[in-house]
Amino acid sequence: MVQITYIEHDGTEHRVDVAPGTSVMKGAVNDGIPGIDADCGGACACATCLVYIEPAWQAVIGQKSVLEEAMLEFAENGGPTARLSCQIDVSDVLEGLVVKMPQRQM
Ligand code: FES
Repeated sequence: MVQITYIEHDGTEHRVDVAPGTSVMKGAVNDGIPGIDADCGGACACATCLVYIEPAWQAVIGQKSVLEEAMLEFAENGGPTARLSCQIDVSDVLEGLVVKMPQRQM
């Protein structure tokens, strides 16, 4: 299992052990953590799984796909640290990852 910390907009932290092979989005949804809606179920078609991730972790996660980049361009709550959590595969290299949720998903 890979420990990921999800931080709600109000600062509430949730430490979750997420199974490798799933996504950062699924880790939150499966544990009932509020703040990630994931309306499209992980198809990279809604941008309601947006999270903010510090630059050091962005380097570990790797580049956005063209599709993820395109979806983030339409997200009102985007920004340089924004990522779509459904597009981040969980593996051992993400041990200790911290993601922050926006005030609301668009
Ligand atoms: S769940 Fe829809 S884009 Fe991630």
